[in-house]
Amino acid sequence: MGKWWQNSTVYQIYPRSFNDSNGDGIGDINGITERLPYLKQLGIEVIWLSPVYQSPNDDNGYDISDYEAIMDEFGTMEDYDRMLAEANRLGLKIMMDLVVNHTSDEHHWFIESRQSKASEKRDYYIWHDPKTNGEPPTNWAAAFGGSVWEFDEATGQYYLHLFSKKQPDLNWENENMRHDIYQMMRNWLDKGVAGFRMDVINMISKDPRYPEGELLKTGYNDGSPYYFNGPKVHDFLQEIHQEVLADYETITVGEMPNVNVDQAKLYTGEDRKELDMVFHFDHVGLGDGELGKWTPKEWKLTELKKIFTRWQEGLDQVGWNSLYWSNHDQPRAISRFGDDRAQYREKSGKMLATCLHMLKGTPYVFQGEEIGMTNVKFDSIDDYRDLESINAYHELTDKGLLTEDEMIRAIHQRGRDNARTPMQWSSENHAGFTTGEPWIKVNPNYPDINVKDALAREDSIFYYYKQLIELRKQHEIFVKGRYQLLHPDREDVYVYERVLDDQVLVVLTNFTDQVVSVDMTVDLTKATCLITNETEAIKQTEAGYTLQPYGAYAFLLKR
Ligand code: NOJ
Repeated sequence: MGKWWQNSTVYQIYPRSFNDSNGDGIGDINGITERLPYLKQLGIEVIWLSPVYQSPNDDNGYDISDYEAIMDEFGTMEDYDRMLAEANRLGLKIMMDLVVNHTSDEHHWFIESRQSKASEKRDYYIWHDPKTNGEPPTNWAAAFGGSVWEFDEATGQYYLHLFSKKQPDLNWENENMRHDIYQMMRNWLDKGVAGFRMDVINMISKDPRYPEGELLKTGYNDGSPYYFNGPKVHDFLQEIHQEVLADYETITVGEMPNVNVDQAKLYTGEDRKELDMVFHFDHVGLGDGELGKWTPKEWKLTELKKIFTRWQEGLDQVGWNSLYWSNHDQPRAISRFGDDRAQYREKSGKMLATCLHMLKGTPYVFQGEEIGMTNVKFDSIDDYRDLESINAYHELTDKGLLTEDEMIRAIHQRGRDNARTPMQWSSENHAGFTTGEPWIKVNPNYPDINVKDALAREDSIFYYYKQLIELRKQHEIFVKGRYQLLHPDREDVYVYERVLDDQVLVVLTNFTDQVVSVDMTVDLTKATCLITNETEAIKQTEAGYTLQPYGAYAFLLKR
């Protein structure tokens, strides 16, 4: 028997940028409630809500100061309960973002922890003495710049923060802390949420030896071998399962930078009782250069195919894949993997969706993807809000590793704010997102790209997504079919099959702006076309089947 979420599609909401109901320029819970019918219309079944908890917003809610209260800017717990009830009434489930690798430094646990070495909460976090020369305990670099260690005058020790210094890491070795987290999770599940997307959950177990890290090009040292997929991570996840998840019907996905297929088998293996899915980063890291995403290079389709194929084959019959092109940390899918020039924007967006949604796994749609939103190019760093981009801009330009121009261009391509500009609802002021002043500028292309326009056009990308989402429910082959890659060496097309008994689902996608031909052994002219972004039926010439620029077809046939 399959699991309920295997033929569902998940939609990610980044609440700050989704819909503002009270004119303060910041998206909020009531704004989400207003738009639930829109999501119902799209056909998704699960909403992953990026953090809505109380937070000082150093990292837009990924720094939580109270796990059981709603962020003031987003509304109240009553608003939340109303949203949840309304979602459930519409048959939509809510998946919460669980950020438990770290809290905010304003969480009362940390406030107590830093008060004295004898504090009952001291060990809820990771405190170490300075080296004898006063330096931090290790040389590791933090994800958002600087050292991972912050010195605390009051008690003369350093605390660990793998992200910003306002995001101290929790100490998962501490049993009381773990049980407080489990209770909090149960409280949310008892309220009726459907599960959790677990933030950087493969970082919770640290190597207790705390060795020095290797020197990177950026001049910092890499501690990542000592905190990704650490020694006790599976024990902790199994304990979460046993103490919390086992008692509920949930959907869980672990966000995991630096995870490979073999590790993912352990995280998602059905018999292991850890997680349902992981988010790996292999495809979103394509083209990373010497300074990672800040020196982006060309990427090759053959590499993308290799990555997806490795994951499709690797988790087959063992675990389950999550499928995504984008999220709140990534650039917009069409700009990154498709073609955002006006004439190809929707066409390539539909092609990408076809390619992804037919793979084996659960697809995740990031807000705005269903209307084909694209990256934004602000001229000045002052228009950006993301601490990752801002810190990297200063750090890399100060060190002379990149010029300001190079850095702005890199942010245009890969910065996180590409995903965080407000959802474009209409061609009204501020894209209909707010009646006030938005917390971050709206993408100036909103008069052309918005929900109202997409809903008014029958052939829009919105209705294409809707069709894809519906198709998953109608054909068992989407869930069960075995994946097989065809034409692995071609740089222009991604062609694959899914096979279930005598049924075959054939997916053909053209990743270029050229007309191409694809040689196939099956007769596609007799097959049922399930979906296409082309205006005509597929044609065959001597060279094979023809795909127009960014064309995509999916066929169902019997062998
Ligand atoms: C991953 C989240 O997706 C990202 O937005 C956040 O900054 C880091 N984890 C830290 O919580």
